[in-house]
Amino acid sequence: MKATVRAHPNLALVKYWGKRDDALILPHQSSLSMTLSPLSVRTTVAFGVGSADEVELNGYVAKGSERDRVLRVLDAVRAEAKGTKLGPARMVSRGDFPASAGLASSAAGFAALAVAARAAAGLPADPRAASLLSRLGSGSACRSVQGGFCEWMRGERPDGMDSYAVQRFDEKHWPELRMVVAIVSRDEKEVKSRDGMKNAVETSPYYPAWVKDAEAEVVRAREFLAKKDLQALGEMCERNAWRMHATSLAADPPLCYLMPKTLELIHSLREQRKKGVPVWFTLDAGPNPCILTDAAHELAAEAAAMACGATEVVRCVPGGDAQLLGEHLF
Ligand code: PMV
Repeated sequence: MKATVRAHPNLALVKYWGKRDDALILPHQSSLSMTLSPLSVRTTVAFGVGSADEVELNGYVAKGSERDRVLRVLDAVRAEAKGTKLGPARMVSRGDFPASAGLASSAAGFAALAVAARAAAGLPADPRAASLLSRLGSGSACRSVQGGFCEWMRGERPDGMDSYAVQRFDEKHWPELRMVVAIVSRDEKEVKSRDGMKNAVETSPYYPAWVKDAEAEVVRAREFLAKKDLQALGEMCERNAWRMHATSLAADPPLCYLMPKTLELIHSLREQRKKGVPVWFTLDAGPNPCILTDAAHELAAEAAAMACGATEVVRCVPGGDAQLLGEHLF
């Protein structure tokens, strides 16, 4: 009744930005991401311990909405395993990278939780079921159950049963691809992605155009990945990030996640490209750019980030599936 799983975060090449159903976490459009190694989160879940559910995240007892989101996933597992009385759960999760630094620590955390909770409950390994389950905690988590490059299909059904991620290419498809995460600010972001995207859906006049465009870009991204066309993928990554941020810049109140150092780095990548260095940025709901490049140019990407005031750089490669581990956290 105990299981431990390690999962990697993922970074969207075509972003998810906006829900059509807030409660079920159903997106307006599909999205596509790269799973990032070596960053990871480890989570242990045990059922039938203690007298009430216990949730510990990075050494702290989780409270409020953080705790509620974890319990939502645990309750869904208890409902699925209805034949077996699972009882109260203890969950301990630890990440090896800074939470709220613009990196999707919640994606890795909820993917690890979903796979671990299903295993601890004795449910069979099933990437689709785990993806659906992790989506209830955080939307982008559904793309971290599997490695390589995963596509979250928006789905059509009101109950969300067709809104989950599938792996389009595994981590061995394009091992030379790199994502260089540049930390230019470690400050907790002022507006969480869930609030930022809600504001865009409700008030941005650009929002309908964003949805239509992103859906079409997912199809193109798949093609560029199949052909391993770095330039086409890089250009698409940049325009998709700009368009996501443009919806929020045009919202009411306007929302700008970019900081001066973010822009400085974006401009410096453009200068690098003029010199023939293949580097393109993408940017989630935060100030820290991630640089798409290949193995031959990851050090150049790192140098560009440091020259623009990045305090830390993490060089990532395509990561693998969420995996069961033999060692537990408690
Ligand atoms: O799943 P959430 O609520 O953490 O939202 C993720 C939103 C972005 O990171 C900005 C884009 C994405 O697709 O991951």
